[in-house]
Amino acid sequence: MRQAGRYLPEYQKLRQTHTLEQLFRCPEKIAEVTLQPLKRFPLDAAILFADILHILLPLGCDVTFPQTGGPQVSAPERLQEKDVVNTLDFVKSGIQLLKEELSVPLIGFCGGPFTVAHYLFEKKPEKMLHQDPKGFRQILEMITDASLAYLKMQIDAGVHAIQIFDSWAGTLPRAELEEFVLPTLKKLTGALNVPTLIFSRGSAFYVQEFLSVGADGISFDAGRPLAEIRKEVPKQIAVQGNLPPEFLYSPPDVIRKKTREHLASMQGDPGFIMNLGHGMLPDIPVENVQTFIETVTSSPSVA
Ligand code: CP3
Repeated sequence: MRQAGRYLPEYQKLRQTHTLEQLFRCPEKIAEVTLQPLKRFPLDAAILFADILHILLPLGCDVTFPQTGGPQVSAPERLQEKDVVNTLDFVKSGIQLLKEELSVPLIGFCGGPFTVAHYLFEKKPEKMLHQDPKGFRQILEMITDASLAYLKMQIDAGVHAIQIFDSWAGTLPRAELEEFVLPTLKKLTGALNVPTLIFSRGSAFYVQEFLSVGADGISFDAGRPLAEIRKEVPKQIAVQGNLPPEFLYSPPDVIRKKTREHLASMQGDPGFIMNLGHGMLPDIPVENVQTFIETVTSSPSVA
């Protein structure tokens, strides 16, 4: 997550001459930005350069990414249902270009429907959830169905795995998580024929709930040690994570030490995917990311 993005000088250079929308909507730029981190680091997979909020375009919304303050969504009075594949054709073309160049697997993705609703409802989806549960559920269903068409398009175009980013789901109380969110995630994972991973903030404290979604792997946040979480997750389900992104502000020797400790704590687990517990922060020094990755790839426990 944020494997590409502002911590990379080559990305910042591109951003001096292009808006984020220009990068997101141009297949050649999608391919170029996706490849940037792979040209620098020996990563095991690429993650498509796109955004979870794109799914709101075929639902009739406009999405912008201002310099500050986070993404802005302007929605019509009623969501529409336009042709997902046609509206998001630029993503498909970007994947097709990437397939020609990549020698590692490509991870496609979408947002969890609740997290997309979080931005649709100006970061207060809980208000509508309680005021009009039926209407809220209908909107989640529309986002889920559009997301499914979007993911199938990505898989047809050639992505090897799908990660669902339901970043805000784990901030809900358990009753609302179970009633409104988990059914949408089950619908998505149950309909896909490639490996699926699910990410949510707060997942470290909702292990059983996220297990019930039926994904092939779970990406955990830094809330609890991954080795402790692992004991609650069946061996055939992969676990990803979960160092706090902020640890990459530490001096190099501390980065090396904490990375080695994390690896050692998971040693021998073939279902462990080394990662951060959330996205890379824009002002993390790129040398620190390099130190982190070098420590991982040079570790004797890594095949
Ligand atoms: O490299 C990758 O990880 C793939 C691309 C990717 C982006 N966004 C590109 C992007 C992925 C996987 C996402 C997911 C995403 N987008 C999430 C879920 C993960 C999470 O962070 O919890 C969310 C909530 C969004 C919505 C969104 N888009 C936010 C909150 C922001 C940041 C706004 C800010 O000012 O920091 C964006 C913009 C965005 N999406 C950037 C990137 C690389 C920042 C780019 C820039 O400003 O140039």
